[in-house]
Amino acid sequence: MSPSDQRDVIVIGGGVIGLAIGWQAVRRGLLVTVLDPAPGTGASHVAAGMLAPVTEVGYAERALLRLTMAAAQRYPSFVAELAEATGMDPGYRTCGTLAVAMDAGDVAALDELFGFQQELGLPVERLAGRDCRELEPMLAPGVAGGLLVPGDHQIDNRRLVAALLAALTASPGARLVRQPAAGLLVDGNRAAGVVLPDGSELRAGTVVLAAGHASAGLPGLPEPVRPPIRPVKGQILRLRLPGIYRQALSRTLRGLSRGNSVYLVPRADGELVVGATVEELADHEVTAGGVYQLLRAAHEVFPLVAELELVESIAGVRPGTPDNAPLLGPTELPGLVLATGHYRNGILLAPITADLVTDLLATGTLPDLAKPFQLDRFVPKRVVELSRIG
Ligand code: GLY
Repeated sequence: MSPSDQRDVIVIGGGVIGLAIGWQAVRRGLLVTVLDPAPGTGASHVAAGMLAPVTEVGYAERALLRLTMAAAQRYPSFVAELAEATGMDPGYRTCGTLAVAMDAGDVAALDELFGFQQELGLPVERLAGRDCRELEPMLAPGVAGGLLVPGDHQIDNRRLVAALLAALTASPGARLVRQPAAGLLVDGNRAAGVVLPDGSELRAGTVVLAAGHASAGLPGLPEPVRPPIRPVKGQILRLRLPGIYRQALSRTLRGLSRGNSVYLVPRADGELVVGATVEELADHEVTAGGVYQLLRAAHEVFPLVAELELVESIAGVRPGTPDNAPLLGPTELPGLVLATGHYRNGILLAPITADLVTDLLATGTLPDLAKPFQLDRFVPKRVVELSRIG
């Protein structure tokens, strides 16, 4: 590449996070290259597309909740902007979510979650089993209780990624390079670009690392700025609701059945996404045990599952972090910005991540909302040794 190819920003990784950042950065007037050998085919392709900050709130994740709630609020305007830019429908569905419990232990777990959600002032309603079946008549008769979360929606992640790719590639200031980054280029004491597999260099003022579970393995990353990311495998299924059953499930369903959790995400076109395993593995194999676990739990809460065509089984690898929250913002290596580690929230967090990171790229200042998610939260605090008083 010639020196005239110098860009403002290189984004390593063309998943939903990298594509969203690339597109938003171009809209802010920056010259951007997104680098990925197969954009949009990783975890973003495998995902279910749940936008569920309330249903998925974790007990030790209050800071993350602020981000996920802001992310959900940003979704309608983001998809409207994307639809306007591309003429494509990203499949955003404001259907709400119903979480149901089957046995007494599951009900106890659901009530504990409900208590926590109430403490946080989140919009959620506790329902008896019969109320759940009134809302969704094809639920299993044994459903013992539930939580209705009217604001937890969904998006078709594959349509979203296709629209982002179209928006990015149609933008004059953007370039998509379908190659992997063979390494980070460090010049003096700053990140200066990437090295491509043929040894050539691609230079930019800022490099955004958005490579999901592969982020930690990027060659050339200085050790102090290597993100603490581990692979967390998820297996997921896609079933098809035939014409007569197209409306058999009108909202996202989360089930807790004898301690096993499962989610069923119905698309408007009859696709039913059933997920997902959570395995501390890095491979992409679909296993009989994984499929069995998902189908068994799904069937226990929604028996119609047994009648449906199994269209696809697939596995992806999520980028897990020690506290389940993403890594956002600048690092100790000038010129290197992180936008990775989104774990189970990549689709939900893509628009807000793009806003926050693009603000940083355009203004040099990281917005307050992103500050709790910087890499330095994992840097061990300096231990002050006290001398013994003798
Ligand atoms: N966000 C859904 C999953 O990771 O399974």
